Amino acid sequence: MKTMLITGASSGIGRATVKHFSERGWGVVATMRSPEKETELNRLDNVLVTQLDVEQKETIQDAIVKGIERFGKIDVLLNNAGYAAFGVFEAATEAQVRRQFDVNLFGVMNTIKAIMPHFRTNKEGMIINISSIGGRVSFPLLTLYNASKWAIEGFSESLYYELATQNIKVKVIEPGNIATDFTGRSLELITDDSIDMYRTFHQTVLQKQLESFETASTPEMVAEVIYEAATDQIDRFRYLAGEDARFLMNMRKESSDEEFMNFISN
Ligand SMILES: NC(=O)c1ccc[n+]([C@@H]2O[C@H](COP(=O)([O-])OP(=O)(O)OC[C@H]3O[C@@H](n4cnc5c(N)ncnc54)[C@H](OP(=O)(O)O)[C@@H]3O)[C@@H](O)[C@H]2O)c1
Repeated sequence: MKTMLITGASSGIGRATVKHFSERGWGVVATMRSPEKETELNRLDNVLVTQLDVEQKETIQDAIVKGIERFGKIDVLLNNAGYAAFGVFEAATEAQVRRQFDVNLFGVMNTIKAIMPHFRTNKEGMIINISSIGGRVSFPLLTLYNASKWAIEGFSESLYYELATQNIKVKVIEPGNIATDFTGRSLELITDDSIDMYRTFHQTVLQKQLESFETASTPEMVAEVIYEAATDQIDRFRYLAGEDARFLMNMRKESSDEEFMNFISN
């Protein structure tokens, strides 16, 4: 049986992926910050629900040990945990800036470091990082999120070469808008009432962003793309997920910077 360890499995893309892989006979280590709240995933076949907070290194190590104890081996690591900070950069506190990178970038790096000895012992493995179309193009008022996902792209692309020497594959998934808790409880709104010059801009952009999610794709669609990446046996690095992501990427390739940025600002 093949096994995948997933971070951020409590909701959205992570949760849909646990179900998708478990239904196809995979063993899944479904990790989350608060496993005591989980009532459904722990009843699925071959699913181990256990604690992992990407901001706490010891929980990463513990989850990997428990996953190996239960399934004997982990074949694929899915770095999915993440969230977006939204708002004016000047208004962001240092803690907000750091936490965006602690979770979206350093959490991924720490999880990869923790699983590497296991993958090297096995002489194989796969790392799939959930990036975003926001790791290829940028949107207004998402400076911190875009920076963290562009960092994931650069980090993963370089790591690809390094780990290829160890028979370990690295892949990234780039979803467009997906209907999850991402725009709800996971969205961190940056606000600072002392800086009110941006207020209209902030409200207009936030409104537009939320409206664009009315046509969002499902997390199950992303789970299918992740399944393809995990099983297609081909040497492919990037997987876009969603029509909107494909549209934006095509447009980005066919336009000048100015044309593309003009499109995004209107
Ligand atoms: N939805 C979209 O439109 C979209 C588009 C492109 C990329 N993505 C990416 O997809 C990934 C999953 O997001 P989603 O859309 O499925 O949103 P979601 O439903 O809000 O899920 C986010 C998950 O990340 C977890 N998480 C947050 N901080 C964590 C931490 N410190 N340690 C461990 N887990 C943590 C959350 O756990 P808790 O339940 O404990 O909060 C939750 O399980 C993210 O990397 C996101 O950037 C999403």
